[in-house]
Amino acid sequence: METFERNEKGSMMAEGVSVSSLALQYGTPLYIYSEKALRDHFSEFDKSAGDFPHLICYAVKANSNLSVLRLMASLGAGFDIVSGGELARVLKAGGDTAKVVYSGVAKTEKEITFALDAGILSFNVESEAEMERISSIAAAAGKTARVSVRVNPDVDAGTHPYISTGLKSNKFGVPVERAFSLYKRARDLPGLEIAGIDCHIGSQLTSLAPFEDAIDRLIRLIDRLREEGINLKHIDVGGGLGVVYNNEVPPSRKAYMETILKKIQGLGLLLICEPGRSLVANAGILVSRCEYLKEGELTDFCIVDTAMNDMIRPSLYQAWMKIEEAEADESIPEKVFNVVGPVCETGDFLGKERSLRVKPGDFLVMQGAGAYGFSMSSNYNSRTRPCEVMVSGTEHRVIRRRESPEDLWRGEEL
Ligand code: LLP
Repeated sequence: METFERNEKGSMMAEGVSVSSLALQYGTPLYIYSEKALRDHFSEFDKSAGDFPHLICYAVKANSNLSVLRLMASLGAGFDIVSGGELARVLKAGGDTAKVVYSGVAKTEKEITFALDAGILSFNVESEAEMERISSIAAAAGKTARVSVRVNPDVDAGTHPYISTGLKSNKFGVPVERAFSLYKRARDLPGLEIAGIDCHIGSQLTSLAPFEDAIDRLIRLIDRLREEGINLKHIDVGGGLGVVYNNEVPPSRKAYMETILKKIQGLGLLLICEPGRSLVANAGILVSRCEYLKEGELTDFCIVDTAMNDMIRPSLYQAWMKIEEAEADESIPEKVFNVVGPVCETGDFLGKERSLRVKPGDFLVMQGAGAYGFSMSSNYNSRTRPCEVMVSGTEHRVIRRRESPEDLWRGEEL
């Protein structure tokens, strides 16, 4: 939470600019990102890996704005993608497709062809059927697809059930034993080159133990594959490092990287990791304007102009996101509110039982909104999606303009 802090006058700052001035200039709801935070977070991972051969593949789904992607690319990042759309974004942003890994359980023929033509580093294959599909497409095109098996190591990431992905019961990856057979099968299939091994066990992990467990399981498989004469080039440990939203105590980016390096040091493989949230979450905020205060029978409501369509995490995962006043005004009495939006659903809330000093017209800041915020937004209730602004020092620029009503019906016919 070190990025967006108050100055001595009590105004929340985005680097060198006050959040309220940005909200006045660009309107609300407004996503604001800090370029410095994005750079710092990336470089913490990168520096901690030191000289060890590594590639940080930013998980595009966390925040797929072209400017964010371009910045990541300029820092040397590769990309973890999960759709043809994300690959198109990486291309548009000038990312290096030779640094792209492609995860996801449902890659279509069209998407596979697109990724093959783009020359990506690796398909993270999630099933036997997908391996066969990639092989036949590559062979028919006279190309070679680099593949890794996404192993489902069956470890409990101890996170929200919707975002834990490395359990037997999840749809992701291939169990260890079947992965072993799948590598042997891949060796015999045309059009394939075995590149590496992959796993991703979940998101918002606040302990390193599940990562270590998963890597141990991968290492045992790597050893067995070696005995079988199958030699890999990389190990992809996925993403998942947690961040501070409230009172979590996640490991630092440095501790995460050092722990992983210690585990895989002797393997002689390139390390790939796929961080999303830990790069962007606390590099972004979402600013709302208080429209009304409304007394309820049981709770008071602070009704803001931001809704679940702009930021769905509280509604979807009951995620606790910090909400605070953009300007500290001690003259307003503190009251407890449910902070709710304009969408016609009771599930439309940003936070419950929050103590705030707020009056209509004030701006509120949601911290930690840089990840899975805008990228999960929608037009529900025919709401135009927010503007996104990038701040660097005292400079700021729009990196996505606020949508207009015309954007709402783009592609539709009367
Ligand atoms: N790699 C793969 C294959 C993934 O599926 C994900 C996230 C990542 C990397 C990046 O994980 P991260 O470092 O961001 O934890 N919308 C949810 C999070 C969903 C995560 C899905 N996969 C949320 O807002 O909490």
